[in-house]
Amino acid sequence: MATQTPTTEESKPFSVLFVCLGNICRSPAAEAVFTHFVRRGGFESKFRIDSAGTIGYHEGNPADSRMRAASKRRGIEVTSISRPIRPSDFREFDLILAMDLQNRDDILSAYERWRTKEPLPEDGPRKVKMMCSYCKRHKESEVPDPYYGGPQGFEKVLDILEDACESLLDFILRENSHIAIS
Ligand code: 4NP
Repeated sequence: MATQTPTTEESKPFSVLFVCLGNICRSPAAEAVFTHFVRRGGFESKFRIDSAGTIGYHEGNPADSRMRAASKRRGIEVTSISRPIRPSDFREFDLILAMDLQNRDDILSAYERWRTKEPLPEDGPRKVKMMCSYCKRHKESEVPDPYYGGPQGFEKVLDILEDACESLLDFILRENSHIAIS
């Protein structure tokens, strides 16, 4: 019986980058929640998952302790170390998820700036999507910045991210059928 050999594209992990402002609250939590769902589905080896900030102010720092504690209470460990977004992200990632509209504008401006200095894929801007566009149960269009607010802000972020990450994974599996069958 003939077997189907995966194409080079299909044998590469599907790569997802979550981006917020500081990469210490929302995008590290998104990375952790999405990783949780990917592991639960048994797809860990099929994905590359990372997060970044549009500013480098917190570079090298672990995620905000309030975000880590709120996630931990839900059984999700946030382990990432903050880093700013870089030009190679547009080459290396299939999907770039912005937490709010300012993040999306900043990501797209960085792309335009970097593109004048080095070759970047033409489809860079098309890889950038709003995180909340994947939500099924939440009406919010942005993941709200919890940094200057109280503890309920961190819970809200996690509620939205759980919703978005679950359907983001469903969407990717639907659009890339080789992930689930190989
Ligand atoms: P994040 O939250 O973008 O979700 O990581 C913030 C982190 C840091 C700051 C603002 C928001 N800050 O002003 O330093």
